[in-house]
Amino acid sequence: MAITLDIKQYMASKAEMVNKRLKELLVREDEYPQSVHKAMHYSLFAGGKRLRPALALASSEAVGADCAKAIDVACAIECIHTYSLIHDDLPAIDNDDLRRGAPTCHKAFGEAIAILAGDALLTTAFEIMAVINMPSRVFGGGLPSHVLSGGQTDNGRALQVISEIARAAGSVGMIGGQVVDIESEGKDISFPELEYMHIHKTGALMLASVRCGALMGGASDEDMIALTRYGEAVGLAFQIADDLLDVEGSQLAMGKHTGADRKKGKATYPAIMGVQESKRRATELADRAISSLEGFGNGAGALRSIAAYIVSRDR
Ligand code: IPE
Ligand code: IPE
Ligand code: MG
Ligand code: MG
Ligand code: MG
Repeated sequence: MAITLDIKQYMASKAEMVNKRLKELLVREDEYPQSVHKAMHYSLFAGGKRLRPALALASSEAVGADCAKAIDVACAIECIHTYSLIHDDLPAIDNDDLRRGAPTCHKAFGEAIAILAGDALLTTAFEIMAVINMPSRVFGGGLPSHVLSGGQTDNGRALQVISEIARAAGSVGMIGGQVVDIESEGKDISFPELEYMHIHKTGALMLASVRCGALMGGASDEDMIALTRYGEAVGLAFQIADDLLDVEGSQLAMGKHTGADRKKGKATYPAIMGVQESKRRATELADRAISSLEGFGNGAGALRSIAAYIVSRDR
């Protein structure tokens, strides 16, 4: 029988590890020009769940590695995710004023600085990943990498990780999904279009988190096949749950406005197939994610618990 794991405690301990490392990696907020650095820190440390980093770290553990091997990639992914939230909230996209329990970046810093802070977070992510194997680093006072991260990964793997994350974030990944989201506002879209949108705008970066955490941990090709199935299923389940929380969730718990999708005429799972059917599909996907890990032992316990958490969360 699998060992049950306290998922809240697991997520909290990984979030702490990620936050500590992000503080070392990021340019300090008092560095010139302060406005953009303050905006980057403001959005990054406003209190996100750190779910994508947790997936990357849990995935490295599932393949038997020390999760320290994946920490910098996990931090880079969180920078990309936070950039995507800053831009998602802009007036030209979703026009939201509350995020992570605080005014959105453009409300606090103005639109121009919010756009630039998002750009800078995206760029920072690639800098973090590009220097993973460098003997001396530009970050954190230039401490040697072996002091700060989990040690060396071969350069071929590091490049594969960088290219997978770039693709997942780009126009055939997250941006592609965001484009379909915007272009579907106020329209009736087909089920394949809805699925494309969710798989891309959210699923792509979650799948990349799972795959790249495992790659950093030295996963075998066989591990990668199973983990890809897991990542695809949790990615889609996560966005269905996000749509459901917009209908049924609490603004206080989530730190963002609820009921916003309906007001904007967004194409969502509950709007297209109803709340009950959306819940059924989300649960089915979480179950599918868990069964794709059948070949893994207790090391994959955290990934199993995260799949269940994704569809039962209240934030
Ligand atoms: C929200 O993501 C945006 C979506 C992709 C649906 P999260 O729910 O993971 O947001 P944070 O990181 O916890 O704020
Ligand atoms: C956001 O989807 C997806 C990305 C940021 C890439 P949503 O627009 O549904 O996210 P929330 O609900 O604003 O967090
Ligand atoms: Mg959006
Ligand atoms: Mg939004
Ligand atoms: Mg949403």
